[in-house]
Amino acid sequence: MADEPRSATARAHSNIAFVKYWGNRDHHLRLPANSSISMNLADLHTTTTVAWDSDLQQDTLTINGAIAADSAVERVRNHLDVLRARCKTGHFARVCSSNNFPMGTGIASSASAFAALTVAACAALGLRLSERELSVLARRGSGSAARSIPPGYVEWHAGDSHNASFAETFAPPNHWRLIDVIAIVSRAHKRTGSSAGHETAGASVLQPARISSAAERLRAVKSAIKHRDFGRFADLVEEDSNLMHAVMMTSKPPLLYWEPLSFAIMKAVRYWRTVEKLQVCYTLDAGPNVHCICVASDADRVIARLRSLSSELDILRSAVGCGAYVLAPES
Ligand code: PMV
Repeated sequence: MADEPRSATARAHSNIAFVKYWGNRDHHLRLPANSSISMNLADLHTTTTVAWDSDLQQDTLTINGAIAADSAVERVRNHLDVLRARCKTGHFARVCSSNNFPMGTGIASSASAFAALTVAACAALGLRLSERELSVLARRGSGSAARSIPPGYVEWHAGDSHNASFAETFAPPNHWRLIDVIAIVSRAHKRTGSSAGHETAGASVLQPARISSAAERLRAVKSAIKHRDFGRFADLVEEDSNLMHAVMMTSKPPLLYWEPLSFAIMKAVRYWRTVEKLQVCYTLDAGPNVHCICVASDADRVIARLRSLSSELDILRSAVGCGAYVLAPES
């Protein structure tokens, strides 16, 4: 007779990087070319239920109630293979995942998705893994997922081996009440996703310069966060984002993620900070949407100014979030 399915539900938050991860030293293991830092986003999360079931003939995946596309199923299956090996099970899994932020907004959900999947899959088998080991495992699904396991302000140590590449907290969520105000410039799906993008980074002549200066930038951003020094933080975060996009733009083929409105917002943010004295700076991931990082007391003013730039902008807002966790079963 088949065993009862063993299931658990976990939640993980998305994160926004201040010193970016772009390019791998080992693509298969997702060992990054440089260490990175980020903050978790309290208001953007993925909730995932994993049920290991001896009756299943293959893994299944639904996202927001709909059967997922083949490409998503394949990526989840590959990650479940990693988890099956670690958790010593040969069973297949039923995976149901949902995001609380609107799908198709161009906000990368892979960090929260693979962190929630990892935590739920291990919990369903009754495995009590350390935060570090969960971060190591989540990294295999999506590099930035390693950073969604621990809470608050997080550093992902690049490491030089599978077990040495993990993320940990360096300041708790309540250390500094920063807000991420996200201007949704385009909802279009990325033509080149980050997994493919990481493979092109090495083709840019600028990547060695970005990598060799990353450790010093990371040290300085961490220190600015520790001392809540917004001016220093803002200059470094914008520099790091610009450096990553300079690498993207000079890869082969070039990756041009910015839209005209992205650039207009970047220039406006600098004006709001340097002339109008709002405590806000920008950073962009592998897409055109602009993350405006600001102190909590300036968030409403930043949102009002964004609306005055373009009345059609969708805007999301998030405070600093906690780490990934298992949800209590519904009774
Ligand atoms: O985890 P991935 O493969 O989606 O890569 C994330 C890459 C960036 O979002 C562009 C930068 C970062 O550090 O989050």
